[in-house]
Amino acid sequence: MLAAGPSPLAELDDPRLARAGVRVILKRDDLIHPLLPGNKWRKLKYNLALAAESGHETLLTFGGAYSNHVRAVAAAGARFGFRTVGVIRGEEHLPLNDVLAFAAGCGMRLVYMNRTTYRVKDTAPVVEALREEFGRFYLLPEGGSNEPAVRGCAELPGEIDVPFDVVCCPVGTGGTLAGIAAGLGPGRRALGFSVLRGGRFLAGDVARLQTAAYGEVSANWTIDDGFHAGGYARRSPELDAFIDDFAARHGMLLDWVYVAKMMWGIFTLAGRGTFPPGTTVIAVITGPMADAPR
Ligand SMILES: Cc1ncc(COP(=O)(O)O)c(C=O)c1O
Repeated sequence: MLAAGPSPLAELDDPRLARAGVRVILKRDDLIHPLLPGNKWRKLKYNLALAAESGHETLLTFGGAYSNHVRAVAAAGARFGFRTVGVIRGEEHLPLNDVLAFAAGCGMRLVYMNRTTYRVKDTAPVVEALREEFGRFYLLPEGGSNEPAVRGCAELPGEIDVPFDVVCCPVGTGGTLAGIAAGLGPGRRALGFSVLRGGRFLAGDVARLQTAAYGEVSANWTIDDGFHAGGYARRSPELDAFIDDFAARHGMLLDWVYVAKMMWGIFTLAGRGTFPPGTTVIAVITGPMADAPR
């Protein structure tokens, strides 16, 4: 299996943080691996090992038409010799967008599921019908968040070799936060920023994932849902202004679907004095930087 060393740390030099007495150190998981950056590698690592150990030749997963997870599963399949099936929500649109064209180029078989069935995609009749169609497969849930994924993400805090108080990450399906919080030592906490509107159910998902992986829920995490900018893959003028300003100051164009929402949240909370002076925050860069001007 592909080996990925600890991702680098890089402190932000920013007068707004200095004024608030808060240090923000980036954990550059986006640099882990070009094909499987960020939480994708951490989530897939133990799943791929389990799939191989149990003799599976096919990985099947679910996602929307722009899913980073579907893209990563396609790349992992090509790299590690699994056939892959991507069950995509909604209708087929041709030509394929970049994500799905990449996935198809990796050899992923793309199939489309209507939205009504997609809502119950995890239920036995739907999975059974997929097994009849595609044979034996290792099932990765939407977003890749399951018990092995949580265990992979729990390794992140152990790589941080500087003193810190809080680890922050964006929250989509909750697996990354569940793992990071589970991997923290005493006296430290995790703060997730929901990228979805009305993400209150996310706390239940994080708790369920921790229970599945460890049999208990850790009391060291919270989710802030004040920075979703209108909902999943939505943006607001405030978020866009933050991204432009951050790019001008730090030379990094943050991905607006996930990482920018977290960073906007961190800077806003620092400005409000929510973090006591002297706090060191680790901001996990969970996916690639945006690579083109918006
Ligand atoms: C770049 C990026 N960051 C964060 C997340 C959210 O992670 P999770 O779904 O584990 O909450 C995702 C989705 O998997 C993602 O693609």
